[in-house]
Amino acid sequence: PIDPNFEETRERVDDHEGHAVWGPVEEPERRGIHGTHVAVDFDVCLADGACLADCPVDVFEWVDTPGHPESELKADPAHEDQCIDCMICVDVCPVDAIDVDAG
Ligand code: SF4
Ligand code: F3S
Ligand code: ZN
Repeated sequence: PIDPNFEETRERVDDHEGHAVWGPVEEPERRGIHGTHVAVDFDVCLADGACLADCPVDVFEWVDTPGHPESELKADPAHEDQCIDCMICVDVCPVDAIDVDAG
């Protein structure tokens, strides 16, 4: 599962489409965590797709991650600013790849 303390345990190494990327990133195997308020651990996500299907405000978009051992698509929190903290994505992800900081 994603480490909910990633802001303390990881370093912000990049930005992607306006959100943070928390390392380590070593492509293609390690892709880091994307987003901060809505954070997706790309190394845990296996492209189940429930988060994209169920988010009521369409926070997520698919991005390509060719060569990643778990899956070659990841759910990117492209519109994390729109999140309404319903926690549905956290509940439906089968591998606990998503952390939403609703505090
Ligand atoms: Fe979407 Fe709700 Fe998840 Fe926010 S908490 S990203 S609104 S499903
Ligand atoms: Fe990935 Fe979980 Fe969404 S596996 S696609 S973050 S439901
Ligand atoms: Zn991203």
